[in-house]
Amino acid sequence: MTRFIQFYSIFFLLLTHQVASARKTSMKERKPCKRIVLYLHDTMFNGTNGFNATSATVANGTKLGNFKFGLLAVFDDPLTTDNHLLSPPVARAQGFYFYDMKTTYNSWFGYTVIFNSTKYKGTINIMGADMMDEKTRDLSVVGGTGDFFMTRGIVTFRTDTFQGFDYFRVQMDIKLFECY
Ligand SMILES: *[C@@H]1O[C@H](CO)[C@@H](O)[C@H](O)[C@H]1NC(C)=O
Ligand SMILES: *[C@@H]1O[C@H](CO)[C@@H](O)[C@H](O)[C@H]1NC(C)=O
Ligand SMILES: *[C@@H]1O[C@H](CO)[C@@H](O)[C@H](O)[C@H]1NC(C)=O
Ligand SMILES: *[C@@H]1O[C@H](CO)[C@@H](O)[C@H](O)[C@H]1NC(C)=O
Repeated sequence: MTRFIQFYSIFFLLLTHQVASARKTSMKERKPCKRIVLYLHDTMFNGTNGFNATSATVANGTKLGNFKFGLLAVFDDPLTTDNHLLSPPVARAQGFYFYDMKTTYNSWFGYTVIFNSTKYKGTINIMGADMMDEKTRDLSVVGGTGDFFMTRGIVTFRTDTFQGFDYFRVQMDIKLFECY
């Protein structure tokens, strides 16, 4: 009986050790199953540039603070694989952002990346905070359809350039951790 208990306690110890080390390595070596880097170009409508604007303010900012608090913009922005505005778009980003901080520029994005190319067909849904003072910001990939069925992951934003309120370009580093 004691040998039986000894055997099983050693067996149990080995088992828990293995489970613990397996968990440690999988956390450390977590690599995306798919990675796509795209540039988002947002050209704000200023009343006269309708021919090339891709984003428009639908609710103006309030007087709370000096950072456009409450301003809501809807966009249908082209996404390119390099940082040239006039490169052929490989997908579009459609959704909205609004400014939501009184003391600095901070916005919240909710949008869909729509692919309709020979390479990919489907959508990736993204939401999260864009704390513009930070060099990089992580937003969540909350789901997808088509080639991105049920995906989840992280999108890292890096501001590539901005021209006042007229134009900004953000590098979107999409890292997916669930691929089917
Ligand atoms: C709007 O943008 C266009 C194109 O950049 C520019 O030519 C025009 O002067 C701008 N209009 C205003 C009112 O800022
Ligand atoms: C819009 O037009 C202006 C003025 O011609 C140009 O500077 C800007 O790059 C254009 N933007 C887009 C998105 O084509
Ligand atoms: C939006 O708010 C800004 C700043 O308060 C102001 O200069 C601008 O005229 C407003 N635009 C509209 C369309 O009300
Ligand atoms: C996707 O692209 C095809 C081929 O260019 C086109 O016929 C179709 O309308 C597009 N679908 C959407 C949703 O844009």
